[in-house]
Amino acid sequence: MTAGPSTRVMTASAAAITEAMRCLVAGGLVAFPTETVYGLGADATNSRAVARLYHAKGRPAFNPLISHVPDVAAARRLAAFDAAAARLAEAFWPGPLTLVLPRLPGCPVAELATAGLDTIALRVPNHAVARGLLAAVGRPIVAPSANRSGHVSPTTASHVLADLRGRIDLVLDGGPAPVGIESTIVACLAEPILLRPGGLPRAELQRVLGQALPDRVLSGEELGDAETPVAPGQLASHYAPRTPLRLNARSIEAGEALLAFGPSLPPGSEGAADVANLSPAGDLIEAAANLFAYLRTLDAAGAVAIAAMPIPHQGLGEAINDRLKRAAAPRA
Ligand code: TXA
Ligand code: MG
Repeated sequence: MTAGPSTRVMTASAAAITEAMRCLVAGGLVAFPTETVYGLGADATNSRAVARLYHAKGRPAFNPLISHVPDVAAARRLAAFDAAAARLAEAFWPGPLTLVLPRLPGCPVAELATAGLDTIALRVPNHAVARGLLAAVGRPIVAPSANRSGHVSPTTASHVLADLRGRIDLVLDGGPAPVGIESTIVACLAEPILLRPGGLPRAELQRVLGQALPDRVLSGEELGDAETPVAPGQLASHYAPRTPLRLNARSIEAGEALLAFGPSLPPGSEGAADVANLSPAGDLIEAAANLFAYLRTLDAAGAVAIAAMPIPHQGLGEAINDRLKRAAAPRA
């Protein structure tokens, strides 16, 4: 099966989910909403489908993918849960948390999907369409964010189409993704480690674990493959808009667009090429939900740069700042 020139779009419904299930089981590529961002799904047990997915995204081939499953029981058939992992899964699944765990022998997920590692990233999304689809398929579904590699993650079906129209088979349109930022990734291999800040704030994880959650970039060796770039976003310019991004802006230069946060705008804003306020009320949850869509809007403004106001580094602010830092990194 090849992705034809036309990508179908269906409003999420029971019939559309059945259609999407058939497409996935046949080795097709289906974009679907989750609570974090839209994912580009493929049957995780079908290495040809996984290869097509890497191709559609233009993704560096050795970046491992998250396998999505409908519930904890399905996850436990794929990976080994230690006490910390069990506690986190119990507390936060379904939800915006991905766990990196040792693969079980006999785990049917294609080696290509885990980039040959002996660990696997698992997630149980909290979204009715995603869960309906996963339950219907009855197999793990790999789903990276449904954007071309290096672009910002999609939070609506139209973002998906802007990047992937003609490269994938079907898009299930379930409205805007409510969280707006990707899942938090925690490795439970020895002591739990934060690999990627995301939609679940660190403080909530620490509360359940009863201990501090250090962040550390695992070496490829620790994850079983010295050649593999492991921790997410190790590619310097991930999430990049085309327009240069200037962080912690406290004033606006001529020709810049403004990515604002909070009620008071910095000097020079009246002359900005365009303004998008992540949250006029200064609410970090609202800001996360708007982040990727507003980066896209400002990227289209033809500004010389996007000036981003400082975002408080607490709660979801940690994940927002992580994404902004990557978006501002020099292009590879
Ligand atoms: O919210 C999300 O997590 C979204 C939705 C669609 O579920 N998915 C997502 O996938 O963000 P993706 O592929 O864009 O990011 C997954 C990250 C990658 O950066 C990858 O390096 C990391 O997870 N990852 C996957 N397997 C891993 C493993 N075994 N060890 C370490 N990192 C892993
Ligand atoms: Mg991504």
